[in-house]
Amino acid sequence: MTAVGSVVLTGAASGIGAATARRLVASGRRVVLVDRDAAALATLQSELGSAATTLTLDVTDSAAVDALPQTIPSAFRPVTALINNAGHDPGGTTRFDLGSADDWQSAIETNLLGTMRVTRALLPGMVERNAGDIVNIGSIAGIRLMPTMAAYTTSKVGVHGFSDSLRADLAETAIRVTEILPGLTKTDLIRKRYRGDEQRAAQYYERFKMALEPDDVASAILFALDAPPRAMLAQITILPVNRW
Ligand code: NAI
Repeated sequence: MTAVGSVVLTGAASGIGAATARRLVASGRRVVLVDRDAAALATLQSELGSAATTLTLDVTDSAAVDALPQTIPSAFRPVTALINNAGHDPGGTTRFDLGSADDWQSAIETNLLGTMRVTRALLPGMVERNAGDIVNIGSIAGIRLMPTMAAYTTSKVGVHGFSDSLRADLAETAIRVTEILPGLTKTDLIRKRYRGDEQRAAQYYERFKMALEPDDVASAILFALDAPPRAMLAQITILPVNRW
């Protein structure tokens, strides 16, 4: 049966987001694909067809995010689930004293504040209907700290704390809050971290030997969404099998 309303998915145009978009549509859901990469969004939209619509939006743009509830086409309302997935790690794996404040700001504004802003924009509609799912894509970096990743780690520790706080705030409602904490996954994040340097990205993956596929993470997200309404998958940590 086709679900009523839609799922809003940020960072939809690549990696974990694109894999999740495909699974959501395959499950009969309608999806609002949100990303700042308009060209990649258009390609995904043409693959997914009329079950999807696109919104080119930067989650750090507070005015655009505040306008989100009105920007979503009426055929895709109400929003039954929000997946906060947009994220990046510009300039990551640099020792803190050598890093750039602009990069830290960009990571924290997107990964943490973007997640909070988009949630703030779409949550009132869910509270009004006393129904909905918020899924935050955190990271294993939010609970197992690694050197040379101060800004990304700080952002994901923040997502971890925000997810717990939000779940507590919403405990009297039927709204579920899920945090997904993936380990290393084969996406564009690492190449973009090194500003397009394919060789450095390949070396990073080689260092860890194994990595998840984006669809592995997408399947965990769908597992949480498909749980019976009484059951909330509060946190799902998903790692390549050689990690801890
Ligand atoms: P990706 O680079 O393949 O996809 C990220 C998407 O987010 C891109 O389409 C990008 O355009 C979009 N995006 C970035 N900043 C944005 C902004 N300010 N506004 C709107 N869209 C924006 O990377 P990946 O790996 O699929 O990342 C998805 C999420 O998964 C991120 O939150 C990331 O931190 C998280 N994650 C990734 C892991 C990995 O090893 N790849 C491991 C753990 C978590």
